[in-house]
Amino acid sequence: MAHSSSRPQTLPPLRHLLVVGGGGREQALAWALRRCPGIEAVWVTPGNGGTEELGDCRSLAIGEQDAEGLIEACLQQAIDLVVIGPEAPLAAGVADRLRDAGLAVFGPSADGAQLEASKAWAKALMRDAGIPTAGHWTAASANEGLELLEQLKRPLVVKADGLAAGKGVTVAENLEETAAAIREAFAGRFGSAGERLVLEERLEGPEVSVFALCDGERMVLLPPAQDHKRLLEGDRGPNTGGMGAYAPAPLLDQAGLEQVRQLVLEPTLQALRDKGIQYRGVIYAGLMLTAAGPQVIEFNCRFGDPECQTLMPLMGPELAQVLQACALGCLDLAPDLSVAGTCSACVVAAADGYPEAPRKGDLIQLQPDPEPKRQLFHAGTLRQKDGQVVTAGGRVLTQVAQAEDFDQAFTSAYEGLALVRFNGMQFRRDIGHQVRRS
Ligand code: AMP
Ligand code: GLY
Repeated sequence: MAHSSSRPQTLPPLRHLLVVGGGGREQALAWALRRCPGIEAVWVTPGNGGTEELGDCRSLAIGEQDAEGLIEACLQQAIDLVVIGPEAPLAAGVADRLRDAGLAVFGPSADGAQLEASKAWAKALMRDAGIPTAGHWTAASANEGLELLEQLKRPLVVKADGLAAGKGVTVAENLEETAAAIREAFAGRFGSAGERLVLEERLEGPEVSVFALCDGERMVLLPPAQDHKRLLEGDRGPNTGGMGAYAPAPLLDQAGLEQVRQLVLEPTLQALRDKGIQYRGVIYAGLMLTAAGPQVIEFNCRFGDPECQTLMPLMGPELAQVLQACALGCLDLAPDLSVAGTCSACVVAAADGYPEAPRKGDLIQLQPDPEPKRQLFHAGTLRQKDGQVVTAGGRVLTQVAQAEDFDQAFTSAYEGLALVRFNGMQFRRDIGHQVRRS
């Protein structure tokens, strides 16, 4: 087992991996890691209905926040590297507990995870480090928020401070909507996540997600990806976790990405270090490309879902070693991460009733797909004892495909999705409209 506290001279052997989480993001991570040379086994806890099917990974019924259970499994399976997918275990300190037990963990400590778990903390860090982001105020009571609104006399973006499963943001159109969002948050709409609010200036521009794999000091950037947050075609309807994505997003070319590295990501990692935080995991910068340049809309402490599913098929065979080197604080010892030059398209199939009240238990009909440049990543699925797979969550499946251009990649993704059926299946037909000609 690799010990994480001291910097190694060379990367230790890497054979057995554990991915924590059960969504499409974790399935894509497990699949991509399983393909890396030398990897003999990838375990996923708790996994989903597709874990044992795609890329021959194995699932273990351990909750993502059960640190003791995870440590025990790591000892039993001689795990060399743990990759933690979701934000909740990171914010709860699961990475810290596993590191204390001597494990190599890709995923920040609880203090680093505040980048996502407290928007007020992240905004203060950005302000202190001079990172471009919308001007903001915090409010600890409805009165404080409403008084501020009275002074400013313009609509604001209202954000719950804590983790609210992507639902804690209201982009208000006018003063009344802003006031209503402030009152609702303090009336308990987001539980304890809404006991403090961040109120922000509204920005305009296209959004893009950038991911930096960090070892505490150094970083490797992945190609930018564009998510589709709204449920319905034409970018209408309620916000969701994400209904589809594509990468690389031409919104940011190589020079644009370099600018984001210099203006946003390097200063963020430095600001974390200045606070004594060794951030070993992904920094996900949700950016808005405004007329005044890129501005940070939010930070997350994990890969995006479904951006991760979109990006993983583009990753080269060095991925496992790169994540290991991040976990051990020695990215300079890792081989360069190669990235395929093709276009990746991703469409999410969601359950009936998503995002408000997704229905569970619908039988999913799946047909074998012979196309090698296509992946169907399970997310909210459950394999029953009789072998049948049923819906078990909001976002059920993610269909991903790669091709030489986005037209072909999306045509292929939609052909793949046509092989899947379940009652109430919802998906957008216009994912990638920004980059498709047909
Ligand atoms: P978040 O959960 O912080 O990603 O916010 C959800 C969505 O709200 C973002 O994807 C943006 O579309 C929108 N949003 C957040 N902050 C702002 C802002 N300051 N100005 C305009 N739109 C925003
Ligand atoms: N797709 C957006 C997110 O993962 O937060």
